[in-house]
Amino acid sequence: MNPLVITIDGPAAAGKSTTARAVAQYLGCLYLDSGAMYRAFGLKVDRLGGPSLLDDRARVAALARDTTIGFTGPRDHPALVLDGVPLGDEIRTPRVSDMASRVAAIPEVRARMVDLQRAIAAQESLVAEGRDMGTVLFPAAAVKVFLVASVEERARRRQKELAARGDTQPLAEVRAEIEARDRRDRERNIAPLVPAADATVVDTSGMTVDEQIQAVLEAVATRVRPG
Ligand code: CDP
Repeated sequence: MNPLVITIDGPAAAGKSTTARAVAQYLGCLYLDSGAMYRAFGLKVDRLGGPSLLDDRARVAALARDTTIGFTGPRDHPALVLDGVPLGDEIRTPRVSDMASRVAAIPEVRARMVDLQRAIAAQESLVAEGRDMGTVLFPAAAVKVFLVASVEERARRRQKELAARGDTQPLAEVRAEIEARDRRDRERNIAPLVPAADATVVDTSGMTVDEQIQAVLEAVATRVRPG
């Protein structure tokens, strides 16, 4: 049987990770967090030179080619590994979010991430989460979901997540960060943030996490018919 591929794309803090991880666990599939890979590379560039290193495109492109990013551990809750070193919540800071969306607009970086993602996904059933999973990586996916939510709701969710890790940020700042990042993700020339033509758009504003998961599982049930 062909592997089942479910893609979950959408703007920042729309609930993709929580939903994708739960759906992967429920279906016993691999969970691919493509955003974590851009975050890992953003962190690497930040450590090596900070945002000004981005002006040296040739160096960033060479760094991308030399970078290995993968996952280890449980299929539905894998840990990120950058150049052989495990990473944790250090990729979840607002600074790294910003760096991630900057590196993600660079074609050579995307080319490297796409190669790594294709290698991870080879012949596996999976739930893949990101911005271009349904449009670029898995255009033939059986189920494509595009999660959206109001920016107010997304800012509140991200503020809560950051606070749970001890990072207290004013709501207005969190909102400005995700708005700036969404704009950059939507307006870039390569693999911009856009729903695939055949994606089911789910607005999670006002939904509980369980309701979000149910909505995706319903899309799976509708799209994947036995036989
Ligand atoms: O969790 P959140 O939605 O805030 O972000 P993420 O999914 O971890 O992605 C971080 C950044 O990586 C995004 O703002 C995008 O710029 C980039 N990204 C991308 O370009 N393509 C993907 N498939 C996944 C993430």
